[in-house]
Amino acid sequence: MTPIRAVKGMNDVLPDEIGRWHFVERTFARTMSLHGFREVRTPYVEPTALFVRAVGETTDIVEKEMYSLEHHGEHLTLRPEGTAGAARAYVEHAVHAKEPMTRWWYAGAMFRAERPQRGRYRQFYQLGAEVFGDEGPGCDAEAIDLLSRFFAELRIPGVQVLVNSLGGQEARTRYRDALVQYLAPHAASLSPDSQRRLTTNPLRILDSKDERDHAIVRDAPTIHASLDAGDRAHFETLRKYLDALGTPYAVDARLVRGLDYYTRTLFEITGAPEKLGAGSTLVGGGRYDAMIADLGGPKVPAFGFAAGVERLLIASEVEVPTNVIDALVAPLGDAAAMAALGLGRDLRQEGIRCEVDTRGKSLKSQLRRADALGARVVLILGDSELAEGVVQVKDLDAHTEERIAPSLAVRVVADRCMAASRNVDSRPSMAAERKS
Ligand code: HAM
Repeated sequence: MTPIRAVKGMNDVLPDEIGRWHFVERTFARTMSLHGFREVRTPYVEPTALFVRAVGETTDIVEKEMYSLEHHGEHLTLRPEGTAGAARAYVEHAVHAKEPMTRWWYAGAMFRAERPQRGRYRQFYQLGAEVFGDEGPGCDAEAIDLLSRFFAELRIPGVQVLVNSLGGQEARTRYRDALVQYLAPHAASLSPDSQRRLTTNPLRILDSKDERDHAIVRDAPTIHASLDAGDRAHFETLRKYLDALGTPYAVDARLVRGLDYYTRTLFEITGAPEKLGAGSTLVGGGRYDAMIADLGGPKVPAFGFAAGVERLLIASEVEVPTNVIDALVAPLGDAAAMAALGLGRDLRQEGIRCEVDTRGKSLKSQLRRADALGARVVLILGDSELAEGVVQVKDLDAHTEERIAPSLAVRVVADRCMAASRNVDSRPSMAAERKS
């Protein structure tokens, strides 16, 4: 029979890999909490109209990458990104009436029907954040700085921050006209996709991956001439704040993104280019001051970003120990098995991760299992130990063996293992170094 395989572009994360996922997720949750952000969870499925309205009808995401379905007359879509859902929830629950400023973060799966390749999947995970009710550039600068620090904790090499300003809606309209005026005489030489975008979404031509468009786009006017005084002041202050924080960045006047909702600040961060390729962004974000009103809410400015977890994991040099347990209880014989189950319970009461191997295997096979699971200590219980009222404590790291009373053994094992497991939770890189 042909085995059934996972859907193309949708991956299993097996237990051996989950430690690094947890490390990235926990580090992000802690970082966000330190900045006063609270977690929000919104549905994986939203009305299709939400993404059409918020992300933009002529974006690649809405035109060709959404997993949409019709169910009993309802048009639904698996969320391709998290901003639209967060903004919908913000409006739906009238959060603006309860608090003047809102800081949310989220983690979860997103779905886009893209062509799968390394770092690009059809189901992928994002860590994101959205701020509602803060229009100042301090908000933008702090988020970019926060991400730089987060990436340093993840030990991602070659991090590069690119910032740009897209201006407000009026500046965008002015720029759109200027761009079309410049591109129109070259229309015949543009790629078919860009020819179509000339009327639907000309800004996206700047982001084209097609070689035919590159040479033409190179001399196109940048948005900066179209910015108004307010946009310009916002961008200059953002740069001053980043300089004051000592956060490295570069201005990329042609930076545009695949979502239509951005206004003013726009940024992308890349890293580990030799592992991910130069064009693969780790995080993207910016301001979207018009979305809340466009979704039927009040006029509330907004800013946010999202990072792809799989890409962070490819880029990060952090290793985490993969040991599953601290101790293995190894009984030899039926009578010992009974005592071993109780000993295992006492160990767990002290917070020691342990497995009791009651399969009736030989000591050699149980020691092999202890090694495979990364146990530091093996507690051996055979007939002679039972008769003497002791347990043999074998420390695999220190290469020592002692025969002690079970209650004392619990304390000894707890002392040896707890420091190590504390390391596993909060200092994975150090714990990894200790293990190696
Ligand atoms: P985005 O640039 O579409 O922005 O996605 C953000 C990040 O998600 C990317 O930089 C990348 O790391 C990851 N990502 C995107 N697509 C894929 C994929 N197919 N496979 C793997 N990773 C992927 C947004 O989604 C916006 N909602 C960000 C934002 C929040 N802007 C304001 N607030």
